[in-house]
Amino acid sequence: MSIIDDILSKTDMDEIRKETEENYRQYVNPFALRMFKNASLDIIEGKREGASVWDISGQKYIDCVTGAGIFNVGRHNKEIVEGLKKALDTYDMGGWISIVRERGILAKKLAEITPGDLKYSLFCCGGGEAIEVAVKLARGHTDKTEIICMENGYHGVTGFALPATGRDVYKQPFAPLTPGYRHVRYNDIGAVEEAITEETAAVLLEPIQGEGGIIPADDAYLRQLRELCTKNEILLVFDEVQTGFGRTGKMFCAEHSGVNPDIMVLAKSLSGGLYPLSCAVFTEEIAEFLMTHPFIIINSFGGTSLACLVALATIEYIENNDLPGHATRMGGRFMAGLSALKGKYPKLVLDVRGRGLMLGMEFPEDSIGPRMAYQLKQNGVISIYTFNNPRIIRIMPTLVITEQEVDFVLEAFDRSLAEISKQEEKNAAR
Ligand SMILES: Cc1ncc(COP(=O)(O)O)c(C=O)c1O
Repeated sequence: MSIIDDILSKTDMDEIRKETEENYRQYVNPFALRMFKNASLDIIEGKREGASVWDISGQKYIDCVTGAGIFNVGRHNKEIVEGLKKALDTYDMGGWISIVRERGILAKKLAEITPGDLKYSLFCCGGGEAIEVAVKLARGHTDKTEIICMENGYHGVTGFALPATGRDVYKQPFAPLTPGYRHVRYNDIGAVEEAITEETAAVLLEPIQGEGGIIPADDAYLRQLRELCTKNEILLVFDEVQTGFGRTGKMFCAEHSGVNPDIMVLAKSLSGGLYPLSCAVFTEEIAEFLMTHPFIIINSFGGTSLACLVALATIEYIENNDLPGHATRMGGRFMAGLSALKGKYPKLVLDVRGRGLMLGMEFPEDSIGPRMAYQLKQNGVISIYTFNNPRIIRIMPTLVITEQEVDFVLEAFDRSLAEISKQEEKNAAR
């Protein structure tokens, strides 16, 4: 029996759990295992389908984490899986020191669907790496060094991305970091104006801050930012790693404001949840930097044949099934239900916000986010607080979630909030 047959054929769930947890304890990361348990995310994924994931024990959950936006097309999307299987009959990953046909087709498709004059794509595997590409292109193109980014933003933890991430706890142990990054208040155009110097190469931001607590940028702010950047010959970079591919009710979040960035960073759902891929998409003008240095930013695994085929099938699925439209409709249903819960539990729920199916609920104190995650899990839903702001619990299901499943999640929220209200009353009476 091959190793894969052996792993896939095991059915004793207690044994699998014991073996997996022991491997984590001994060989992966015992502290991560403890954190998963504390965050009520100690699920060992078994079956995955549509909006749901099953623990190996067979317990079903609606997935409202989705790897912070990886599974827009649904968990284990059958159509895309079939496409990948067909591709695997003929293809391996493809060599990177050769010309990759599928990469060209995908880059052309991305040029068609991304807003404005975005045209060229440079591929890598993860979101942080694609942010690095954006920073390098901005510096290379402008011959300037400074990147203005946002307090509480999240852009990953790799070399050129980490300094842009707006939370010190990720950065302190690794100092000195790449210099030249300035953080300003989000949604504050005056703060950007003040931070601009002769050395400013780019402004980098998420059009909705994900890990910062599901905070949408105002459309007017983004338009002002565009004007300011154009006036000062500064590049505008949108990190659409979480917001891209239909999540917010448009193919890309930038479309809500009508603002066209100079560079857009894409990852997570570009992979179809099946094959890692990320990229920075940029204008022809910026691409000129690569003319003299065509291989200055390279990546062995970025934009492989298989990854590009999966990404093309993913985009096709999003378009054919109008997932942005569906996200708008299901997001509206969620917002109505969550707003009603805000009215029902005014002491517990301070705010509900977001766009499409990128939603968050805000609590008055840090401890409630993790407690909500625990309660939700008891009620068949997995979710997690946002990493830079534990007062917010995210609601980021797949974009194939049905009306019935939305209602199921809303009921789980209702029951969880009722339980926490009871606990709070008991605590207050002590
Ligand atoms: C907005 C945003 N940018 C960048 C990243 C980094 O992506 P990765 O973890 O794939 O490096 C993330 C990851 O969650 C993200 O949410």
